[in-house]
Amino acid sequence: MKLAERTEHVAQSYTIGMSMRARELRDQGRDVLNLSVGEPDFKVPERAKQAAVQALELDLTKYDKVPGVLELREVICEKLKAENDLEYTADQIVVSNGAKQAIMNALMAVMDPGDEVLLPIPYWTSYPEIIKLCGGEPLPVMPGDRDNYKVTPRDLEEAMTEKTKILIFNNPSNPAGTVYNAEEVRAIGEFCEKKGLWILSDEIYERFCYTEPCVSVASLSPSIKDQTIVINGLSKSVAMTGLRVGYTASNQKVASAISKMQGHLTSHTSTLSQWVGHSALKYCTKDINDQIDIYRKRREVMMKKLDTIEGLTYLKPDGAFYIMVNFGAYKDRVAYTDSFSLALCSRILEETAVAIVPGIAFGLDDYARISYTLEEEKLEEGLSRIENFLKSL
Ligand SMILES: Cc1ncc(COP(=O)(O)O)c(C=O)c1O
Repeated sequence: MKLAERTEHVAQSYTIGMSMRARELRDQGRDVLNLSVGEPDFKVPERAKQAAVQALELDLTKYDKVPGVLELREVICEKLKAENDLEYTADQIVVSNGAKQAIMNALMAVMDPGDEVLLPIPYWTSYPEIIKLCGGEPLPVMPGDRDNYKVTPRDLEEAMTEKTKILIFNNPSNPAGTVYNAEEVRAIGEFCEKKGLWILSDEIYERFCYTEPCVSVASLSPSIKDQTIVINGLSKSVAMTGLRVGYTASNQKVASAISKMQGHLTSHTSTLSQWVGHSALKYCTKDINDQIDIYRKRREVMMKKLDTIEGLTYLKPDGAFYIMVNFGAYKDRVAYTDSFSLALCSRILEETAVAIVPGIAFGLDDYARISYTLEEEKLEEGLSRIENFLKSL
């Protein structure tokens, strides 16, 4: 029996592939350092954890509202107002199974089959696959400026066609940690307004900014806000990746469309997870900020060490918790057929037991992405092993 065609067009996740191989090596007794995952190593703050226990005791275990528990949506609105200068009402928020589902919901709400979606390179590995699953066409855009890989209106204009309908704007970005400043965000927002493009503003790393605060494109003007769907969630900022809480904030019409569809798909994410999210947003800002301070230190450690490794350069990350490192200087010393970064990262994993993600996953094959979601000593150890490997080539 034949499988559906869409299954053939969807690629395996390189990130998950690397993590799985890392786990196998660990099971074989290797001392594996996994610098490939996009997952905080912190625990969910204690007070937030208690909310799940309490929700069980109160039997809050039945179907609830499709767009999410009202108290959670209200606290999300308070957070968006206080931290992002965004004014939304609870009926404009739809809580979903992680930001991944929020992205899929948003695309299904505004994208018709064959519509193109602008995707600045380097892009988060799941975007093209989610776009394809929803029947759209990813349109990768190579930024003109290869020093910081920030896309400009000019880059977008050159790439777009009459079929282009949406821009996915990931700020701060995974994998490069790029943070667009206010002026750059305005330029992008105004361009999309002029061209009538929807903006899917993925702000899941918005709390992870190390040089200046992140500006939400939706905060620029009522009209830009109206054509923007903000994506956010608690996986990264509250370290609750497994609890699956993400959300969209959008105009009423989009929110209702998303809610209508989600009602037939997942109904809503687990009520227990939603109560944990509620408590985290309401009571745990200090725990979250403490975690961000730790990432800030780790980022320094990473850059300091990388500066000493011969032949490597990197895109200076101002946000998120990843560094895109350019290994291009070693290209002629690694045998490969299709992808240099895949061959390089596979060898690094097998020979040094350090897992990092090949840049091909993000559209940049000279690079690899290194996460700094481990303690400082482990990060230094991981980079030292990579350094020794490079010296041996
Ligand atoms: C840019 C970006 N958006 C969305 C997500 C999905 O987050 P979630 O785990 O909440 O589905 C991720 C996860 O790695 C991400 O990096």
